[in-house]
Amino acid sequence: MQERRIRTDRVPRHVAIIMDGNGRWAEARGLERNEGHWAGLESVRAVVRAAHEIGIGVLTLFAFSSENWSRPKGEVQELMRLLDHYIEEELDEVMRNGIRVLTLGRLDRIPPNTRKKVEDAVARSAENREMILVFAVSYGGRSEIVDAARKLMRDAEAGKLDPERLDEKTFAAYLYQPELPDPDLLIRTGDESRVSNFLLWQIAYTEIYTTDLMWPDFRKGHLVDAILDYQSRERRFGLTSAQVGSGRGGGRTEPV
Ligand code: IPE
Ligand code: IPE
Ligand code: MG
Repeated sequence: MQERRIRTDRVPRHVAIIMDGNGRWAEARGLERNEGHWAGLESVRAVVRAAHEIGIGVLTLFAFSSENWSRPKGEVQELMRLLDHYIEEELDEVMRNGIRVLTLGRLDRIPPNTRKKVEDAVARSAENREMILVFAVSYGGRSEIVDAARKLMRDAEAGKLDPERLDEKTFAAYLYQPELPDPDLLIRTGDESRVSNFLLWQIAYTEIYTTDLMWPDFRKGHLVDAILDYQSRERRFGLTSAQVGSGRGGGRTEPV
C-alpha cells in the first residue's frame, strides 16, 4: 500500500468539524440514539489526539447547536452529561498535551454544573500553547452575528464606534472568539452537505469536505483523508489560478 503523506508545509491551521450522524449510527444497530452519542465520544478522543499529532493549530468541534435545544429533553440532558463526562475524563490528557480549551456559543443556557466544569477547563488550560480545542456548544452562527451586531450598536450608541468606519475587520472583532483564525477546512460527517448554522461568518473561504461516515466511525485515518483532500485543492480566494500559483505538488511530507 502506498504510504499516505501529509505535506507538513500545508497543514490546515484551523480545522472545524460538524460531528453528525450519531443518531443514525445507533439506529442502524438497533440502539438508542443516546448510545450513538456515547460512541461518538470515542471519535472525539481519537480526533483530538490525532489533530495534536498532525500539528493542527486549532480544532473546533460542533458539539451542540442552538437548534439542538429543541430535541427531546432526555437527549438534550444526555448530551450535556456527555460534555461533562468528556471534561472530567480528558482534562488531564488535554493538560499533558498542552492543549488550550475554548468555547463558542451561549453558555448561559447550559446547566450550571456542566458550565462550571467547562469554564474551569478553559481557565486551567489558558496558558497552554500546543493546540487550541474549541467546543461549539449552544452555538448558532446567526446568533453569533446578531450578538456581535448588538454589542457593536451599543458601542456606536456610546460613541465608541463610528458607523462610517465599520469594516469587516472591525465587525469580526465583535464575534465570540475574534482571535481565532478562520477555519481552513470544514469537515462534516453523517452524509449531509449543509452548514446547519455553523460558523457562518468564518467559513467564507473555508474548504468543505463531507463524508458519508457517521461520526462514531470517524478516526485518525479519516482525518488524514480529509487533510490530503484539502492539500490537493487550490485555494483561490477569488483570484485566478495564475495569480495564486500552484500550491500543490512538491513540499515536505510526513508519513502518517
Ligand atoms: C450529531 O449527531 C450530534 C448532535 C447533533 C448533537 P445527530 O444526533 O445529529 O445524529 P443524526 O444526524 O440524527 O444521525
Ligand atoms: C449539526 O447537526 C449540529 C451538530 C453536529 C452539533 P444536526 O444534526 O443538528 O444538523 P441538521 O439538523 O441535520 O441540519
Ligand atoms: Mg444530525
